[in-house]
Amino acid sequence: MPRYSDEIIEEIRSANDIVDVIGSAVKLKRSGANYFGLCPFHSEKTGSFCVSPLRQTYHCFGCDAGGNVISFIMEYENYSFPEALKYLADRAGIRLPEIEETEEEKKAASFRNRVMECLKTAAVFYYKRLYSPEGKTGLDYLKKRGLSDETIRSFGLGYSGKGFDQAVKYLRSKGFADDVINAAGLCNISEKHGMTDRFFNRVMFPIMDINNKVIAFGGRVMGDAEPKYLNSPETIVFDKSHNMYGLNVARRSRKNYRIVCEGYMDVISMHQAGFTEAVASLGTAFTPGHANLLRRYTKDIRLSYDSDNAGMKAAMRAIPICRSAGLTARVIHLSPHKDPDEFIKALGADELQKRVDEAENSFFFELSYIESSYDMSDPEGRTAFQQEAVKKLAVIDDELTRDNYISSVAAKYSIREDALRRAVTVAAESGQAADSTAGIPESGSRKALSKENGSRDAEKYLLTWIADEKEAYEAVKPYIGIDDFSEGITREIASALYEGYEKGGISLADILTRFAMEDKSKEASSVINRKLYAVDTSQDREKALTDLVIRVKKAALDRKKNMDDGLDPLTKAKEEKKILTELRQIRIKI
Ligand code: GTP
Ligand code: MN
Repeated sequence: MPRYSDEIIEEIRSANDIVDVIGSAVKLKRSGANYFGLCPFHSEKTGSFCVSPLRQTYHCFGCDAGGNVISFIMEYENYSFPEALKYLADRAGIRLPEIEETEEEKKAASFRNRVMECLKTAAVFYYKRLYSPEGKTGLDYLKKRGLSDETIRSFGLGYSGKGFDQAVKYLRSKGFADDVINAAGLCNISEKHGMTDRFFNRVMFPIMDINNKVIAFGGRVMGDAEPKYLNSPETIVFDKSHNMYGLNVARRSRKNYRIVCEGYMDVISMHQAGFTEAVASLGTAFTPGHANLLRRYTKDIRLSYDSDNAGMKAAMRAIPICRSAGLTARVIHLSPHKDPDEFIKALGADELQKRVDEAENSFFFELSYIESSYDMSDPEGRTAFQQEAVKKLAVIDDELTRDNYISSVAAKYSIREDALRRAVTVAAESGQAADSTAGIPESGSRKALSKENGSRDAEKYLLTWIADEKEAYEAVKPYIGIDDFSEGITREIASALYEGYEKGGISLADILTRFAMEDKSKEASSVINRKLYAVDTSQDREKALTDLVIRVKKAALDRKKNMDDGLDPLTKAKEEKKILTELRQIRIKI
């Protein structure tokens, strides 16, 4: 983390009006003091995304995304904190001061550069080897799999040689130190054999980052040996869940969707057939990191997984990950062929394009997958399946969308539409009841709140209030200290707010910067975005605030009571009683 001063960070933050910045990415509409729009971080049809010009913060009441203008850019552009800061500084025409690197940082950066050079040198070595007499088996293998020289060149494919330390020897001869070769993930080290090649007798697939720099390799055996693919370990330059194979090319595709496949070979044959929008995760399952990465380029993901059961399962896991990242997913059906590579060989690119265009809506894909585990010829099985369908329909929050799905599901599975609709409504309502602990309590009514959630909520309502009104802070301060908030993010926010007020007014947006740096914007934002509604008159307000103070204090006392702090329980009980009696008498004035 670079050490920019608080002053420069605050200057950059305040020079970028949050409504301007977010407004150029999201269509916003004014409503009262705030602006609302469709949340860019999850898919929704109703605008739960709120931007406050006064606070200079945003918050989504649907997915809890939130923070200040810096965290917005971090999340929207997938930037790190310094990258976002740089972006906003440029936008506002502010020059970021050069950061003095410590000796240690300079060393780390130069070591990293050496590792990258080493990887590049190795890629060239493997590539040349493929076209040398020794590489004939490798080249034959790739040709047999239908790859052209042009494809081999553009993916930089190679062959790793038969000896056990050829690459290591070559890299040493080029001046790379052993610790660099090791950090690049290119060798094995053992007492018996010393430093030997990690990859031998494999065709090599260099893995590139989006700037076309080699960061790792995958190596495939040419026969049936195990493991089929050997990949580089994670290294200082290779983070599997934040890179995708083929993205260096696919990022520039003009298509408005991206195809996600399972394997390296799938990506290569897709690209060769003209589908340059295809990518694959790197020998791991699809992760939220991948979803975030892809969101920079598209919102429309077509999953092209193997048509076997493992592939379907992988798709079932990828769909919700896409959804919660705000991406729509569809599933490309390749049957009767196993994967895109075989499909193209058998039926050609035009036929594949049709399948891509007809990719199945992920909701129906999930339903069919669920259906396959029920015996639909048995009434009990059918009912059980329908209940699953009802559950899935009930969580669709947009009413129109849900309605449309109800109709389609009823038609597709021959369920009576009115019966289905009723079942979904019931399920949705009971779902909402379960959610209502996170809802809006009216002042004085505590019945729906479980104790734990209730007091957590009370803390959040209280902090939201304090964050917006200095008078509330002044009124609450004599009763509630920082220690009275529960540990973790809530107390951290409380402490930042209290400290801010005592120092004479630090802005909420600047407080949020700290949490953005630690990637905790979302949690922080959810603590200060709980508004009490229907408390307009000053009498209501005072009653509601008093109520919150009492609830927070009581919860704090409860925690202290249960804490084993070596204090005499009797004294503790007496103390508690005294505070409670006092609390009962308080009437906060604001
Ligand atoms: P081909 O069999 O050459 O067509 O490869 P593919 O790309 O179609 O691979 P497959 O569908 O078998 O597997 C999908 C992906 O999973 C591969 O591209 C690899 O990234 C990864 N993978 C497959 N087998 C192994 C293995 O044995 N070890 C590791 N680490 N990863 C593997
Ligand atoms: Mn394959």
